[in-house]
Amino acid sequence: MKTPVENAAACSRTRPPHGILRSVQSKAKLVLDGKEIDLPVTIGSEGEVGIGISKLRSQTGAITLDPSFANTGACESAITFIDGERGILRYRGYDIADLAEHASFPEVCHLLIHGRLPTRSEREDYRTRLTRHSLVHEDMKKFFEGFPPSAHPMAILSAMIASLSAYYPEQETPEEIELNIIRLLAKAKTLAAFSYKKSIGQPFIYPQNDHSYLENFMLMMFAVPSEPYTVEPVVRSALNKLLILHADHEQNCSTTTVRTVGSGGANLFASVSAGVSALWGPLHGGANQAVIEMLQRIHDDGANYGKYVDLTKSKDEGFKLMGFGHRVYKNFDPRARILKQAADEVLANLGVNDPLLEIAKRLEEVALADDYFIERKLYPNVDFYSGILYRAMGIPTNMFTVMFALGRLPGWIAHWLEQRNTPDGRISRPRQIYTGETARPWVPLDER
Ligand code: CMC
Repeated sequence: MKTPVENAAACSRTRPPHGILRSVQSKAKLVLDGKEIDLPVTIGSEGEVGIGISKLRSQTGAITLDPSFANTGACESAITFIDGERGILRYRGYDIADLAEHASFPEVCHLLIHGRLPTRSEREDYRTRLTRHSLVHEDMKKFFEGFPPSAHPMAILSAMIASLSAYYPEQETPEEIELNIIRLLAKAKTLAAFSYKKSIGQPFIYPQNDHSYLENFMLMMFAVPSEPYTVEPVVRSALNKLLILHADHEQNCSTTTVRTVGSGGANLFASVSAGVSALWGPLHGGANQAVIEMLQRIHDDGANYGKYVDLTKSKDEGFKLMGFGHRVYKNFDPRARILKQAADEVLANLGVNDPLLEIAKRLEEVALADDYFIERKLYPNVDFYSGILYRAMGIPTNMFTVMFALGRLPGWIAHWLEQRNTPDGRISRPRQIYTGETARPWVPLDER
């Protein structure tokens, strides 16, 4: 069987089948204006049921209307499974808790992108390649000079990832696609660290080939030429966990963006750069920055938890508890549970006493006991505790969403490949229900 990378290379020419486990069993019936039509029902490998409506418009003239896609499956995917009611998250069948406990981030990259865990020799080879491709073209360093010091690192990351396509053009063979994937994974961390160095006016630090993926990232972020830098094992291990927990989350806003952009045939770097931009918003990956800003505000305002919980209920104020709620998880977010425990351990290990951790825990307690949150099934999500961990590691607040992006890279890449491999894959192009003016005559300028 071909690997996802080999499939991607071949698919634009031959569209080979891919091995998604699913079955088409029964039919659903739809009656519209007295006309009855059969709709095929697809059952996924975990029993999820999808009603196929691809012939709906041609048979009835109608479309479905589902703004924000809460009930719409945009694709079939074999990468990540989530059961939001039971708090289950699995990458390629492996439970997130097992991966966070035992795997390294490069192993998870291999798992998501290639569909299986690497063997020992593959793992070594992968690690070596992810290190050796860390350098960015020297000319790209000049780009950083053009950004103002106040530039948000997400703006820089998105622009820089799109710019990689100028240096490493469109891929054709499986080897070329694989090489560009390695380049993206390896260089994104360099670009992220350089954007931080630029913002604090320090010289860029080059990666070292005897360092691991995470060690290199930390070296480039925190080392200065004037003194030696050693990586704290506890920080490396927490970073590993954080990146793994963020590595994929099926059809979220940024991943759907990557697949949508990729569906038009855009190259890997352009598609992933669009994903970085989509991630930036505070309802998505930008929530980790917003959580810390909110916790700081609550801290500075005398830790009046009730006041802020009440504020969320008055919709006019437009205030939400950041890091709370999720479209899919309705009982708990397994990533948040792992991070809450990790925050306790890491802060204790580093001897960091962050008052915001206490604020977060108390706020969680108060919110979870409140009817508004109970009725709406609102729980802490992955972003609620991640910022506390990043702070303890010395990562500045405006880099938090960049950290999320570095973690999400293998997921975006895996989805870009899967989308490319899809037999009969078509460009993403939803329809709409038009609610504007009906036809009206042109009005000359002096009559308006
Ligand atoms: N604080 C207060 N009320 C909330 C919150 C919150 N954080 N989240 C949802 N609600 C309310 C919402 O106002 C609505 O109330 P009502 O039924 O009275 O209108 C109800 O709960 C249902 O919420 P929704 O907005 O329909 O839920 P959604 O699925 O459209 O949005 C969400 C999901 C994550 C965008 C939303 O919960 C939110 O804005 N949370 C805060 C931002 C955040 O933490 N985002 C990170 C998400 S996890 C990381 C990632 O995957 O990006």
